[in-house]
Formats: sequence, structure tokens, C-alpha cells
Amino acid sequence: MRMRQAGLAGAALAVAALAGAWQAAPALAQAGAASGTAGDVVAERKAGLKQMAGHLEAIKGILDSRGALEPVAGRATEMQRFFEGFPARFPPGSDTGDTRALPAVWSDRAGFERASANMVAALGKLRDAAAAGDAGATATAFREAGGTCGACHRNYRAR
Ligand code: HEC
Repeated sequence: MRMRQAGLAGAALAVAALAGAWQAAPALAQAGAASGTAGDVVAERKAGLKQMAGHLEAIKGILDSRGALEPVAGRATEMQRFFEGFPARFPPGSDTGDTRALPAVWSDRAGFERASANMVAALGKLRDAAAAGDAGATATAFREAGGTCGACHRNYRAR
């Protein structure tokens, strides 16, 4: 918790202090890096991915207990936003350090972007099914979305 607060405060400071450096490193700036270093980009994308896993877990709980589907649509929308910006969280130079991203993220960029786009599409289906209140279609779309996470991991994440 304390680290998180420090991170947010640091982000605001960094924006002010490193505006010039950001222009020199557009790829990192694009990734929304708190202080513009590769280590922060890696930490931030991993934190975001953990949140995504939390969303999936929460959605599973809702579906298992046959709860209201509206919150599922909300979570799916948040996840969609994250994955729309996903490739930008892997700028050049963020392939080292505490990361399990495989070199293919950068060497097969088109494939990685396609896998991200597939994720956005799968989450769109999930959102639509949940928003329509269709439990059966939501369950199907949920399984597909989970499979789409795994499809990318097989090719782009080290075990
Ligand atoms: C387009 C590719 C892609 C998609 C889609 C994707 N991931 Fe990942 N995921 C990765 C990569 C690459 C890593 C390794 C990131 C790193 O270590 O820098 C990763 C790592 C993770 C991690 C580990 C984070 C950590 O703390 O080390 C979790 C959890 C995760 N993904 C969950 C998910 C979930 C849940 C979904 C689906 C909703 C998903 N991912 C979809 C590529 C993807």
C-alpha cells in the first residue's frame, strides 16, 4: 500500500521533472511509465496483469454464483481498455530485468499485436453478452476470453 502511494506521488513528480526526458524516449512515455525507466514499465504492466487476473477471478465468482451480470460488463470494459493499450506497455528496451516476456514480443510484433487485438475482441463479446443479460452467452464468452489469455501466454510469456 505504501509503495503504491509512493508510486502515484512519484508519477506526478516524474511527469513534471522528466517532461524533457519523455520526449527523448517516446516509446516509454507512450507506455505510461511512471518515471520513464524500463523497470517501471515492467513493474506497471505486471501490476496491471495481476489486476486483469483479479477481474477474471471476480467474474468467475459472479458466474458461479449466478449473480447479476451488470458488474461483469463493467469489469470486461475495464479489461478492454487495458488490453487496447497493451502492446505499448512493451516498448523497446523493456525486454530485460524482472520480466517473463519472451523475445517474440518484439521479434514477432505483428503476432503480439494480433494476440492483443484478439483479447480486446473477446472482452468485447463478454461485455456485450453480459450487458444483454444473457447468462449462457456470458459463460461461453468468459471461457473464450480465458482461452485468449492463454493463447498469448503460450507464445509470448516464458513459463
Ligand atoms: C497479447 C498477449 C497477452 C495477453 C492477451 C494476456 N497476457 Fe498475460 N502476460 C503476457 C506477457 C508477455 C506476460 C509477461 C509480462 C512480463 O513479465 O513482463 C504476461 C504475464 C501475466 C501475468 C503475470 C504478471 C506478473 O506479476 O508477473 C498475469 C497474472 C497475466 N499475464 C494474466 C493475464 C490474464 C488474466 C489475461 C487475460 C485476461 C492475460 N494475461 C492476457 C501476455 C499476455
